[in-house]
Amino acid sequence: MTESNAASGQPQQDDGASAAAPGTAAPSRRAVLGWGGAGLALGAAAAGGAAAALGGGSDLVSASAAGAAVPFHGEHQAGIASAVQDRLHFAAFDVRTKDRAELVELLKEWTAAARLMTAGLPVGDVHEGLPEAPPTDTGEALGLKASRLTLTVGFGPGLFAKDRFGLEDRRPAALVDLELFPGDNLDPARSGGDLCVQACADDPQVAVHAIRQLARIGFGRVAVRWSQLGFGKTSSTTPDEQTPRNMMGFKDGTRNISGTDKAALDKHVWVGAGDGSDWLTGGSYLVARRIRMNIETWDRTSLREQEDIFGRDKGEGAAVGKSKERDEPFLKAMKPQAHVRLAHPDSNNGATILRRGYSFTDGTDGLGRLDAGLFFLAYQRDVRTGFVPVQRNLAKSDVLNEYIQHVGSAVFAVPPGVRDKDDWWGRALFA
Ligand code: HEM
Repeated sequence: MTESNAASGQPQQDDGASAAAPGTAAPSRRAVLGWGGAGLALGAAAAGGAAAALGGGSDLVSASAAGAAVPFHGEHQAGIASAVQDRLHFAAFDVRTKDRAELVELLKEWTAAARLMTAGLPVGDVHEGLPEAPPTDTGEALGLKASRLTLTVGFGPGLFAKDRFGLEDRRPAALVDLELFPGDNLDPARSGGDLCVQACADDPQVAVHAIRQLARIGFGRVAVRWSQLGFGKTSSTTPDEQTPRNMMGFKDGTRNISGTDKAALDKHVWVGAGDGSDWLTGGSYLVARRIRMNIETWDRTSLREQEDIFGRDKGEGAAVGKSKERDEPFLKAMKPQAHVRLAHPDSNNGATILRRGYSFTDGTDGLGRLDAGLFFLAYQRDVRTGFVPVQRNLAKSDVLNEYIQHVGSAVFAVPPGVRDKDDWWGRALFA
């Protein structure tokens, strides 16, 4: 275990040979597969062993180690506290099968595929199989590095519905159906889902490939309900690195939970042993919101007003009356309805969430306006004391509301990490 890993409090399974120690280049899919048939050994049947051998190392692979592999095995799923990568492909799935055993089988197959892909490997033959059959892996990530790919799975409320998979008694109380907040204009086609997978990577093609493989593997048992591409992370779990900026041009993620702050993660992000749902211990809850920005209106807003809206300046990102980004904000110096003032834990009974969102631009809307905004992702220990009170406060009074609209929404229980090569996503839930 590396120092940073120890500091993060995220024990990782060391399965032996580590192909990509933090800070070192990971093997590319091409290097591992070879050109000329050696890759046959990496077929689906090899899913367990090959990737498991690549699982050691730190979950907190630094943002500078862009090609490296983030270990898949651990106490918590990677993709939450681990350093935020630059790109996102997020997908929500409807479960089509009615058969519990089929769902379990799917989760096992997904886990095996995720183990391979996060290690930078294809999920099966690409060009070495039978010419008469479609290749197992679709191939577009061949030759690309692991790119710090993380795959994080979540279970939506629908999975626990009565008379479905026998899970109704296992629904955590904290997995609430989100209320309709003032100003919400939610599109059902961009909301909800029985399962979700968050794929983050430094290379967009690696993230897209991963979601595509999981959708392909799930064919007939699950169907993609909606998906979202994201670029340009809008938050950070690595405070010593430069804070990214959102589509409004402001630094976003300044005051966020650091991926190495074990005490804060235990208190605000990870579900604890006494929280009421044993199968979820070490897991978390995810709230996803597609937030459209009225970019063109924002672009005609004066700098002073923009800064008043957030309560921070645009250049440095310092709170009102302060000079440095990391200076502690003095909330009363901000306008009463400034975003940061209303979102701060002191205004919400201490409610604290880990933000991990991305910018999106999905072309234009037919009226000449960019369909752009923030795909907001927040992890927390309990949705009722995390996202809900903060969003209630923001929805009621935030001056930012004039420039944004929430158009998609989903909530998921995120199971703990996959411990070793015999473990799989959701094992404790279906036990
Ligand atoms: C498009 C929508 C949004 C934009 C553009 C936005 C932007 C920002 C910016 C620029 C900051 C200041 C820098 C920082 O500390 O990260 C901030 C802080 C924050 N935002 Fe947002 N935000 C949005 C939506 C939300 C939503 C929906 C929530 C939660 C319900 C939220 C929660 C927070 C929190 C908790 C902080 C830190 C407050 C503090 O402790 O100082 N934001 N946001």
